[in-house]
Amino acid sequence: METQIITIKKSEAYSDILDKLSKAGELIKQGGLVAFPTETVYGLGGDALNPEAAQKIYAAKGRPSDNPLIVHISELASLDKIVSAVPDKAKKLAQAFWPGPLTMIMNKSAVVPMQTTGGLDTVAVRLPSHPVAAEFIRLAGGYVAAPSANLSGKPSPTAAKYVIQDMKGRIDMILAADDYEGVIGLESTIVDMTVDIPAILRPGYVTQAMISRVIGETDIDVTIFDADSGKAPKAPGMKYRHYAPKGELVIVEGKPDDVASYINQQVRLHRVKGEKTGVIGTDTLVTKYDADIVKNAGSRDEPLIAASRLYTFLREFDDENVEFMYSEAFKNDGLEQAIMNRLLKAAGHKIIKV
Ligand code: TXA
Ligand code: MG
Repeated sequence: METQIITIKKSEAYSDILDKLSKAGELIKQGGLVAFPTETVYGLGGDALNPEAAQKIYAAKGRPSDNPLIVHISELASLDKIVSAVPDKAKKLAQAFWPGPLTMIMNKSAVVPMQTTGGLDTVAVRLPSHPVAAEFIRLAGGYVAAPSANLSGKPSPTAAKYVIQDMKGRIDMILAADDYEGVIGLESTIVDMTVDIPAILRPGYVTQAMISRVIGETDIDVTIFDADSGKAPKAPGMKYRHYAPKGELVIVEGKPDDVASYINQQVRLHRVKGEKTGVIGTDTLVTKYDADIVKNAGSRDEPLIAASRLYTFLREFDDENVEFMYSEAFKNDGLEQAIMNRLLKAAGHKIIKV
């Protein structure tokens, strides 16, 4: 399949941007697939109300079809048509965090095909804030099903070049728009609104504390941090080992100096065996690591920087053929909780306490 790659720049005339997005929207209406930017990661979009489009998405990603898709809308008024009812707490969260990086799960209405929801009676809905996403969704008919635009098993794409790497030849169009600010780099927070006490199924930029401030008590799915809980995650996609780098990743937790000396000791052992090493560290420690490649995740006081760089680091390590990777640990709180959750998944939950 020929994939059109269309670049959109903020500096372009509005009419030019609109022209490109109309063509992209038209492709969706005809049952095609278009990758588009959002404020979290790039999405791989298809018509959410067209069962064949959902099937094409699964095929393009190489993703199991029991893993439901998020339906993206461009205005709150679109919500009623796809859910059976909007719980009061969902209304409050929508008011507080939409448009933005929050996905809510509600009971679906009959218009949403089972192919889109992976056979579930519930539907995940998100109203993104990225201006290109909002306009594209509107021009595509208002309901765009979109998983992250990576091949299944790869980190979600935070830049157009990674979408092109994974999806060129597999979909109709890629909207490349990397010059918009404020991209978070980790997927949206997912909250299950179908239960009495809403539960976070995937942590993200919108934290548990932020949500609780609006609606009171909120749960968090235990399977997010505990690989041995014996329970199945409520978000089907969380059970897959996502974001897996080709090499082996281990998270190291402890006092900063202990972490640095443990990692350096490991690096020396790998070097004896001729193995290539990489480290993800924060700015006060990065100069201490002897690894072949060291990535700076920025200051611990600004976790947004680490969030925005994490998936790029994992992809770069693959390109650099790094065989053994170590990362400093992050806190199980606030935005760091989302970073730690993605790291744990990339590491297959391998964590060493020193
Ligand atoms: O930030 C994001 O959410 C990005 C952008 C493109 O919007 N999208 C994204 O989609 O991360 P995806 O498909 O990679 O992850 C969606 C997650 C999966 O783990 C899936 O199992 C879960 O949401 N999910 C979707 N619908 C669900 C439902 N009805 N019940 C429970 N989990 C659901
Ligand atoms: Mg994904």
